[in-house]
Amino acid sequence: PQDDDLTGVHVVVTAGGTREPLDPVRYLGNRSSGKQGYALAEVAARRGAKVTLISSSSLPTPAGVDLVQVETALQLREQVLATRADVVVMAAAVADFRPAHVSGTKIKKTHDAADPDAAPTVELVRNPDILVDLVQRRADASRPVIVGFAAETGDQNGDVITHARAKLERKGCDLLVANEVGDGVTFGQDDTTVHLLRRDTPDVTTIGPASKSAVATAVWDAVLPLVRTS
Ligand code: C5P
Repeated sequence: PQDDDLTGVHVVVTAGGTREPLDPVRYLGNRSSGKQGYALAEVAARRGAKVTLISSSSLPTPAGVDLVQVETALQLREQVLATRADVVVMAAAVADFRPAHVSGTKIKKTHDAADPDAAPTVELVRNPDILVDLVQRRADASRPVIVGFAAETGDQNGDVITHARAKLERKGCDLLVANEVGDGVTFGQDDTTVHLLRRDTPDVTTIGPASKSAVATAVWDAVLPLVRTS
């Protein structure tokens, strides 16, 4: 990669796991650290891009990156859809569900001798799929370039790449970065193996085990030929 090959390109990167509140002190969350998204933002800034990082993580902000802090999937969606960019990379682990009701006060245990084990039931509702929204709202099929992530586990119904190809087709993004998860791999780890799938070719590029920074470099190398500015 050239030092300044992303100059003039505005990229949005989302990072971290969203937190979906239950009450003022509790939330539903996930194990995403945000490290891959931050590495993508850092590498893009170093290569000259204007970078907006929309994050629900609290890692240190990389140099030259504009940070927009969010917490929930709905906040992340609002910020992503409000930002015009040449490339959007959805590295965030967006919660698929959120509590249907958020209590304004802390949910308390009851003290009913007749029912000492009483516990509340949490009803969930679906969050919108932001990646799909982005694809559907795109007026011009080549702008922004839209990149999705997929944490896949292989199973009896097929391997990671088969699942990833199906997800790429279903969501309609231009590029999908698939990593194999399970048994403690990837989430929070520093080294990772990923497969890059493009919608315009059946070829798959596999990177790793490599640092999240090396993965970020490979992702930008794959995005660059798809970017059309102006
Ligand atoms: O379907 P799955 O959650 O595996 O898809 C992962 C990809 O979709 C990621 O790029 C993630 O950021 C994005 N996503 C989203 N909105 C959701 C759930 C996932 O944009 N509600």
